[in-house]
Amino acid sequence: MYTSKISGLGYYVPENVVTNNDLSKVMDTNDEWIQERTGIKERRHVIKGDGDTTTTMGVKAAKVAIERSGIDKDDIDFIIFATLSPDYYFPGPGVLVQRDLDLKTVGALDVRNQCSGFIYAISVADQFIKTGMYKNILVIGSELHSTGLDMTTRGRSVSVIFGDGAGAAILSRSEDNSKGILSTHLHSEGQYAEELALIAPGMGKRWVTDIIQENDPNDESYFPYMNGQFVFKNAVVRFSEVIMEGLKTNNLDVFDIDMLIPHQANLRISQYIQQKFKLDDDQVFNNIMKYGNTTAASIPIALTEAWEQGKIKEGDTVVLAAFGSGFTWGSAIIRW
Ligand code: UT7
Repeated sequence: MYTSKISGLGYYVPENVVTNNDLSKVMDTNDEWIQERTGIKERRHVIKGDGDTTTTMGVKAAKVAIERSGIDKDDIDFIIFATLSPDYYFPGPGVLVQRDLDLKTVGALDVRNQCSGFIYAISVADQFIKTGMYKNILVIGSELHSTGLDMTTRGRSVSVIFGDGAGAAILSRSEDNSKGILSTHLHSEGQYAEELALIAPGMGKRWVTDIIQENDPNDESYFPYMNGQFVFKNAVVRFSEVIMEGLKTNNLDVFDIDMLIPHQANLRISQYIQQKFKLDDDQVFNNIMKYGNTTAASIPIALTEAWEQGKIKEGDTVVLAAFGSGFTWGSAIIRW
């Protein structure tokens, strides 16, 4: 059996910086509240009309990852795209990447697991590589949140958190079994599906013709909803569990972690995990201060930045962990 290693990483965020003070001009919020409760100082939002979408941002991140991996784009055997904010209801963005990067007619899979999307995506990629089916897989996590948020005081508890951006990784076949993705661990608990959700547009509840006819400006089901405190409480428990599950599977302990890259949901969640596991500041990577929560993009953006800053070295044990809507959560244990 083969092992998969991350052979290239890249990210892209829109240039437009939106500070907490900028948000306080359009809704009743303030820099102090946002920083104290979330750690976020600023985030990126696309500018209307600049052409950035979930797909185009994903493609920009992918180009960097492909170049750094040293492979030719024609060596890509498969595309996996994780997002909760696809350009179209269907088809998903995977095929748009195949078109925009002018790839061969390789398969394209869309993953709908929100904040855990990137971990689910690399887990799928890892299985395809382990079995020998594919050699190089392009994995993208990308989100365009800003166009779908309620930017009024009504939506402030959600809208101040999320930002736009994309990250990408190339997973490649390796014959060195001592390095690469050691294991991945995936979970879900659908009984809490509606605690963090965007109910519309969905075919489950209403006829589209009725929605169009109603055209109700007060219909909040078109905006994401989050039961923040409930999600927070579940997040800290599941993050801890799934990190420990991954470590135990590989006969590792907490002190073996060289770098933990948690999904950037809330700085307070990362700090809670850091304290619980008694990790030093240089063992946990956070960039939520700059980008907010970019959902499926947050781990690949953070992983890329940590690697660019020289914080991940060959032989390091790197742990990725995520929790979010679904609920879904997961971890990946990587020997770099
Ligand atoms: O990525 C997926 C996973 N996501 C998470 O794990 C996120 C988990 N949850 C959280 O991060 C936090 O629950 C939030 C950041 C969303 C909210 O923080 P909180 O400490 O749980 O605040 P809260 O919702 O309990 O609200 C406290 C107060 C409320 O006012 P009252 O009722 O006490 O008067 C809110 O109305 O803060 C108010 N509030 C705000 N004030 C200023 C809510 N949002 C804002 C805001 N600015 N943006």
